[in-house]
Amino acid sequence: LQAFFSPRLLAGEQVLITAGPTFEAIDPVRGITNRSSGKMGFALARAAREAGAQVTLVAGPVALATPRGVQRLDVESAQDMLGAVEQCVPHASVFIATAAVADWRPAAVAAHKIKKDGTGQLPQLGFIENPDILATVAASRRAQEGALYCVGFAAESENLLEHARAKRQRKGVPLLVGNIGPATFGQDDNALLLVDEAGVQELPRASKHALARQLVAELARRLGAARA
Ligand code: CTP
Ligand code: CA
Repeated sequence: LQAFFSPRLLAGEQVLITAGPTFEAIDPVRGITNRSSGKMGFALARAAREAGAQVTLVAGPVALATPRGVQRLDVESAQDMLGAVEQCVPHASVFIATAAVADWRPAAVAAHKIKKDGTGQLPQLGFIENPDILATVAASRRAQEGALYCVGFAAESENLLEHARAKRQRKGVPLLVGNIGPATFGQDDNALLLVDEAGVQELPRASKHALARQLVAELARRLGAARA
């Protein structure tokens, strides 16, 4: 029924989306992660599917149902997420990175549960920087040749516009979508700032589903312009 009412703005597009947090193991029972419910990415996957796209959703650990008609690949760590994304990039025409990827992972994963030794001594954790999935995809030949349109997201706690502009440049993507957290994390609504080469556009506070539909329409407009 939904398909009947939705204009097929993304018909013929292969949309690849990352969503949710990543989980980086410390030992078999512990790890570090980021705050992300995955709701924005899942809402986008649903909206893109309803707009006629083929959608693949690479999801970190989240408690959300897979939107109808969407192919979902579950992953845990940033490295797993990059691996899954790289498998899909050759077929994708749009890449949307909504995932809150952990920036660092423990340098070594303990094979067994780290035990308190009774003396109050603390475990010493070293960290390694995780690969930047969005920057890697944006630098790929497909993206550089214009066959893959890349969209980044940025959740900031302050100076949203300034950070979003800088991040768009740094990641090398045509469109970066900003939002202010942590108040919106896990919530059903949000407000977005779209930053592209031409300037800035605000999508005022609405449900994540409504925003996802607006974002799909904006994306279709930019894809049309990019391919004209
Ligand atoms: N991203 C990614 N892989 C990473 C880190 C970020 O794909 N290792 C993507 C996110 O999915 C998002 C965008 O890059 O689309 C911006 O993420 P963000 O965490 O805001 O940017 P960072 O470059 O990690 O900067 P910082 O966390 O220091 O603000
Ligand atoms: Ca980050």
